[in-house]
Amino acid sequence: MVSAMRERAILVRDLRMSYGPVEAVRGISFEVDKGEVFGLLGPNGAGKTSTVEILEGYRRRTGGEASVLGFDPAARPRELRQQIGIVTQEGGFYPRATVREGVELAGLPYPSPRDPGETLELVGLADRGEVRVQDLSGGQRRRLDLALALVGDPGLVFLDEPTTGFDPAARRAAWEVVRKLAELGKTVLLTTHYLEEAQALCDRVAIVKDGLVVAEGPPGSLGPGTAGYRVSWRENGSRVEHLTDDPTEFLNRVTGEALADGRTLEELQVSRPSLEDVYLDLTEEAAR
Ligand SMILES: Nc1ncnc2c1ncn2[C@@H]1O[C@H](COP(=O)(O)OP(=O)(O)O)[C@@H](O)[C@H]1O
Ligand SMILES: [Mg+2]
Repeated sequence: MVSAMRERAILVRDLRMSYGPVEAVRGISFEVDKGEVFGLLGPNGAGKTSTVEILEGYRRRTGGEASVLGFDPAARPRELRQQIGIVTQEGGFYPRATVREGVELAGLPYPSPRDPGETLELVGLADRGEVRVQDLSGGQRRRLDLALALVGDPGLVFLDEPTTGFDPAARRAAWEVVRKLAELGKTVLLTTHYLEEAQALCDRVAIVKDGLVVAEGPPGSLGPGTAGYRVSWRENGSRVEHLTDDPTEFLNRVTGEALADGRTLEELQVSRPSLEDVYLDLTEEAAR
């Protein structure tokens, strides 16, 4: 019988990394179970990429422990490299190659790669094999990223900011990629600075700021949570703000009152809580 015990894919304990005098990672700890989608969520400069690159074996840590599938990534063992897939934001390979060539190349380092044609079919690019990578649309590039991550059939996939700077269509394709990986039972470590993305994709999230984990848990449990909108407008020269779970009802009421009084709500805005709001919330919580 298969044991129901959780199996660990990644262990990071008190991880530290400096670029000269710049301490980018200042004691990060987290664990990822096999089959989990785990997110490192944080603003630019938080230390996400540095952490991921240490786990991929591309950077040396200056302190702490790191274990990936039971290996020390710093030693870059071939056995480990053959079990991980890496998707960088840039795609990181020859833009002039055809899609099929790209997938074939990506499969080379692995002991038992999937068939390239089958891999392209899996991600919905079966009819794009002879197209040059540089001629793909943004959404098709995301599908290709999935193909590159899948062709080696790795158990663990690293995705560094998989949607930063994408238009909505490309973002949807990238989200599909991650969900597909999860369906296939892969372990995924992704980084993002979009709260919404972490909420949509991750089983658990560690919020990273200034090289430290400031909170960790299922995304719904962090900060203001999934509910909550901020409605604001300008009044007598200053900004008025309200938080509400039901912006439809709230807006109907305040705009109704304003119209009845012959007032205008200047610069009226509705927005979701930002990552900054989550940080503020967490910092306040920590101070309580
Ligand atoms: N090659 C580098 N040389 C010097 N400093 C760097 C280098 N790469 C990143 N940093 C610094 O390390 C910190 C963390 O960067 P990074 O890990 O890229 O964060 P993130 O991926 O969360 O944006 C930042 O202050 C950044 O400026
Ligand atoms: Mg980064």
